[in-house]
Amino acid sequence: MTATICGTGSHIPSYTMDNHDIAKLVDTSDEWVRERTGIVRRHIIQKETTVSMAAEAGRKALKDAGISPEEVDLILVSTISSNLILPCAACEVQKELGAVNATCFDLSAACTGFVLAYNTAMAYITGGLCRTALIIGSESLSNLTNWKDRGTCILFGDGAGAAVLQAKTSPRGASQEEGEKLEAYLPVTHSDGSRGAALTCKSRHDFNGLTDENRQSNAETLLDASHYMQMDGQAVFKFAVKSVPEVIGEALRLNKLRASDISYYILHQANQRIVEAVAKRLGEPIEKFPMNLSEYGNTSSASIPILLDEMNREGRLKAGQKIVLAGFGAGLTWGAAIVPWCR
Ligand code: UT7
Repeated sequence: MTATICGTGSHIPSYTMDNHDIAKLVDTSDEWVRERTGIVRRHIIQKETTVSMAAEAGRKALKDAGISPEEVDLILVSTISSNLILPCAACEVQKELGAVNATCFDLSAACTGFVLAYNTAMAYITGGLCRTALIIGSESLSNLTNWKDRGTCILFGDGAGAAVLQAKTSPRGASQEEGEKLEAYLPVTHSDGSRGAALTCKSRHDFNGLTDENRQSNAETLLDASHYMQMDGQAVFKFAVKSVPEVIGEALRLNKLRASDISYYILHQANQRIVEAVAKRLGEPIEKFPMNLSEYGNTSSASIPILLDEMNREGRLKAGQKIVLAGFGAGLTWGAAIVPWCR
């Protein structure tokens, strides 16, 4: 038994900030940001929240799949920027959609989060724990952005993307070849906590014990730079251009596939130069590496499902294609999953 993606959706806030708008806040320029990152603008929430965007993306994915909310028995939301600590974003999505039969939980692994949500849903389905899963990446990174730090504020944006996965069994009497086509591919994922300092953001709550002093600082919510995303950009860049091609290579070898068997590599959208470097190292044409980061910037765990949804709606994905999803980011975490497109 395996599972296939049978619907996608996304929600993008309508308000945008382009590089010229950012240049009014910090010492930067449209030229610098375009050249170093490929980013032109990013969409930023006004009234939306991580939860509301997640629900909207999920609603569209269910509609695309032609699946009723009651059929969903697992909802996973990958996020590092939920507006709620309790309840989890996935439970809120369940409530919004009326997915009354779903088990719901959130997952936190930054920009690798959507790949891990996909893997988790696949494991639940192939393990017989559920049949239909809604997986969502949703982020309001504008809330975690230090708008005085030009090293990070040029990069991030807000948005949400979603996919529906459903169990698929070989039809009775299917040939061996048809059965093999439905086999689940094994993903490869890694984490290295010892390099976590490269990308950090402290909780806005003080978890250092309930002293009078802490109670006071909690009440005043004194935020400093450490409560916003802080990044050693060059360290993350070097990690990405080395680790992403490596993990894709591992996943291909594990599943006895060649790079040329893959139709598209849908990478986390962090920096155009990272995507280009990965394509070069894999020796694959850049046309196989779709990008939309010029429009949205880096939306962490939402970037892969937003791009997947765009490609699905543009009709670029065809039954029989194999697609690689690859994420990388804070943790450090990174991983690649091979997705058979069966629609
Ligand atoms: O999703 C999580 C994963 N995150 C990433 O993948 C981010 C990976 N890192 C990057 O994308 C890049 O490292 C950045 C885009 C963040 C920075 O680009 P870079 O080419 O690595 O620049 P840099 O940090 O080496 O800085 C080069 C110069 C420095 O000036 P000096 O020391 O050479 O005089 C910086 O101070 O550019 C300066 N600089 C800027 N100048 C204008 C840094 N940020 C800016 C800016 N505008 N926004």
